[in-house]
Amino acid sequence: MHHLVAPSLLSANFLHLEKDIEMINNSQADWFHLDIMDGLFVPNISYGQPLVKAIAEKAKKPLDAHLMIREPDRYFEDFQKLGVEYLTVHLEACPHLHRSIQRIHDLGMKAGVALNPHSHVGLLEDVIAQLDLVLVMSVNPGFGGQSFIPRSLTKITKLHHLIQRNNASTLIQVDGGVTLENASELVAAGANVLVAGSTVFRAREPREAIRQLKQVATE
Ligand code: DX5
Ligand code: ZN
Repeated sequence: MHHLVAPSLLSANFLHLEKDIEMINNSQADWFHLDIMDGLFVPNISYGQPLVKAIAEKAKKPLDAHLMIREPDRYFEDFQKLGVEYLTVHLEACPHLHRSIQRIHDLGMKAGVALNPHSHVGLLEDVIAQLDLVLVMSVNPGFGGQSFIPRSLTKITKLHHLIQRNNASTLIQVDGGVTLENASELVAAGANVLVAGSTVFRAREPREAIRQLKQVATE
């Protein structure tokens, strides 16, 4: 499978959001990555359901929501109603992770689990077969524009092996500090979905940056 690219709207210009959404619609990007932050689980507040609703009306590609919030289960239904396809919760925010995954599936969405940089990949051993996606945080969640934590590469390799050992078809998503320079080694290590905020939106030609992220060679 060719890897996917999911631009993060966190780095978009909210004053021209429609323009940025159109840019993604007309690019080689695969998904819209939506970063939802509550100011509690992470030290920042981003945006919530009203903006997701507006985005959903214009977006022509799957919505991939990354919930960086405490007690995310309270909002599963909201995001389902808004048309989210991939719903990702943080391992560190879910004391009953297995139940949370089940509820996401019961609502008809694909379930993802995100791991903070300190969380061991092995913590997913007993749920990996149920997961559609694992998001490896390669920065500490909360802000765009941070530098990639090198150790994340080892985590992607470990996760790739865990998925293979369990005969699972889980996608590996990498989020944080993804650049045109490190993208190829991430894909080579087993990443299936590259999230990119600043690499796309700080580029002079965002559509070209997306094209380049799609084209990265793995050898
Ligand atoms: C960070 C978010 C990321 C962020 C990535 O907490 O989860 O999705 O937007 O931004 P960059 O690509 O700039 O690191
Ligand atoms: Zn994210």
